[in-house]
Amino acid sequence: MDFVAAANFDQWRHAARILLAAEVPPCDVQWSDPAAQAPLFDSELPDAKVASSVTVPPAFMELARQVACHRDPVRWPLLYQALWRLAHGERYLLELTTDLDVHALGQMRKAVTRDVHKMKAFVRFRKVVGPDQSEQYIAWHRPDHRIVPLAAPFFARRFPAMNWSILTPDASVTWDLIRLDYGPGVPVSAAPDADVLEDLWRAYYASIFNPARVNTAQMKREMPVRHWPTLPEASLIPELLQQAAARVTTMIDTHEGFAQTAAAFLPMQRDLTALAQAAHHCTACDLHCHATQTVFGEGPSTARIVLVGEQPGDQEDLQGRPFVGTAGQLLDAALLQAGVDRQQVYVTNVVKHFKYEPRGKRRLHSKPDSREIGACLPWLEAELQAIGPATLVCLGATAAQALLGRDFRIMRQRGQVVASRWCPQTIATWHPAAILRTPDEQDRARRQAELTADLALALT
Ligand code: URA
Repeated sequence: MDFVAAANFDQWRHAARILLAAEVPPCDVQWSDPAAQAPLFDSELPDAKVASSVTVPPAFMELARQVACHRDPVRWPLLYQALWRLAHGERYLLELTTDLDVHALGQMRKAVTRDVHKMKAFVRFRKVVGPDQSEQYIAWHRPDHRIVPLAAPFFARRFPAMNWSILTPDASVTWDLIRLDYGPGVPVSAAPDADVLEDLWRAYYASIFNPARVNTAQMKREMPVRHWPTLPEASLIPELLQQAAARVTTMIDTHEGFAQTAAAFLPMQRDLTALAQAAHHCTACDLHCHATQTVFGEGPSTARIVLVGEQPGDQEDLQGRPFVGTAGQLLDAALLQAGVDRQQVYVTNVVKHFKYEPRGKRRLHSKPDSREIGACLPWLEAELQAIGPATLVCLGATAAQALLGRDFRIMRQRGQVVASRWCPQTIATWHPAAILRTPDEQDRARRQAELTADLALALT
């Protein structure tokens, strides 16, 4: 009998490779799990270059990486048993969902995935200011499983510009704007209490709480009562529930809708990187349901000129970048002629998701309505605040009317520099797509020349 201790995925993999290479069957291995004291990651283990004749499906390694985070010590023998079977003639084992081992591993993966999802939803950072005035955001969380390494990369992507730490009883992780550092677990008493963000969370939660959709049982399933002590907004729940019926009546009486805007999705940090990251999770209007992705603005935060179009088109939606399709090519040509370097300008749209009508295999552009424009506008406002451009160029009627008023007419008012609440110098001009659609060749050439002249004007 071989006695093997593994506390994390790397240790299990290292041991499993050696055992497999030595043809040790699962029944001859006694696994143990010194999990409580051990680190969640083990970068020092040499990568065992054994058992190279055995190729394991990548899907199994991915499954093993997730199951390794489950708290049940039985995961190690179960994983080794499955690995053994894969290596001994059962290559398609994972496809047998009725197999008892596969089923048990699947259940473990499900529990871990759900726990990761909960961690993403329920971690709340508290701001702590150090003696040197540096700001650190700290969160305490108690996951069911040992999932810190699985969830931490999400927070690094979500809050890249914040120094943050997440403390759990099993492990801690810190992001210093460059890398994730894992450390030992921390008791709840080590999580800071003072919280300047608490009120913000409460206000946010109260604003998104929809009394007409209250389902207490589901709420408890989604937000287990166990997490309530660390959720600032949880203290509001009893009161909000109590008021729900009365608020619904008022909403019906006053025709108050459930309209939401992107303001609810704006991140705490308002630099362009943080804004772009946050915009990818925006569901303020329904356009996100059918679009491939959010197409956020692009360009340097030091740009002196910001160009605003209507919404991404088909190509922009697929590539995730503004003005890269045919309209973008015409815009590039006009910028070049005007002597404006596209790399130096910030290019964005009023609406960040592609709206279209499906026609067979094609997706036909469809104009965003005023609700969609209103819902998306907080992103543009935040982009303009982060950049502070000298000149704002509205490309086409949708952008011009969204920013300069519904009465704005491109035909009459294009090319005029005006002051607006968005920017001291605001100018509207032809949308490149409108130029492309102009049927008469002479009109098209004239409009293109006007676009070029307006862009040149923006440069001065
Ligand atoms: N049209 C727009 O208004 N924006 C784009 O990004 C592309 C086409």
